Amino acid sequence: MLIDKKFENLFVNVTSRAALSSFSLIGKKDKKSADKAAVDAMRNELNKIEMDAKIVIGEGELDEAPMLYIGENVGTKNGPKLDIAVDPLEGTNFVANNLPGALSVIAVANKANLFGAPETYMSKISANCSEPDVIDLDFSVKKNIYNLAEFKNQNPENLTACVLDRPRHKEIINELKRLGVKLKLISDGDVAGALMITDEKYLVDIFLGIGGGPEGVLAAAALDAYNCYFQGRLIFNSEREKERAKKMGIKDLKKKYELNEIISGDSIFCATGITTGDLVSGIEIKNDKFTSETLITHKSCGLRKIIKTEQNI
Ligand code: FBP
Repeated sequence: MLIDKKFENLFVNVTSRAALSSFSLIGKKDKKSADKAAVDAMRNELNKIEMDAKIVIGEGELDEAPMLYIGENVGTKNGPKLDIAVDPLEGTNFVANNLPGALSVIAVANKANLFGAPETYMSKISANCSEPDVIDLDFSVKKNIYNLAEFKNQNPENLTACVLDRPRHKEIINELKRLGVKLKLISDGDVAGALMITDEKYLVDIFLGIGGGPEGVLAAAALDAYNCYFQGRLIFNSEREKERAKKMGIKDLKKKYELNEIISGDSIFCATGITTGDLVSGIEIKNDKFTSETLITHKSCGLRKIIKTEQNI
């Protein structure tokens, strides 16, 4: 089933309002309040939309998140049955410390078409190639780089890899350096990191490494609309995490997820800038109006663009 075009503007409004709320807490060194502001605004807007939707990725389980928890129903209940993944504030450090790159993000698919990833880490890889066997989570870093270089008819030295700057990525980063690959190390925000392979203007050829599982699903939703390649594998650091995943219905804890196992069918993805970053500009306020910039994709319509909207506060 296709998702009606009318939902495009409605979801842009959802992430724009959430971004605006979080924007009021920029540079306050208060990650919790910035996140709460975005969550409250997003939930408020979602509940106005004529849909019968369920949060499959949200702020956590009911016992840890009173709002936008996994399984919460949102919308007026009159309308299509949808599954929704949200990250009302992606990059809490960015807002708390007044740094570039904070986003408010949502991905929407028809019921049962969006993978409800648990709150664990995920090993991820993405590149702008739709062919299989060019990049793969099970290949070495060297094989991925050599294959991608051949696919792009480039030398490895001309490729750029985006990686979260974390001690856990020491080996990946050292290997990329040995291969002469240019690094784009990001301090946070790997939804944007994974999406930077979608357009040559971002000068990134491959994204790889370990980040949040929910962020992986959100990025995959947009990458699907761009016909890009993505794989993810959940990583469990404790028995508790494994038990939770099993409870959520995940049988094979070592499974490598292909893009079409994370999201299928039609989808809408929106990422609105809170602070200006690589993908989109941040919120601007003038008198009683605010301007926001949103990257939107709608798979069935081939929509993939950045739009600017001005609204009353
Ligand atoms: P928050 O907005 O929840 O702080 O997440 C930011 C982020 O950088 C994500 O983009 C990324 O997936 C994750 O944190 C990485 O986790 P960690 O900081 O533990 O390495």
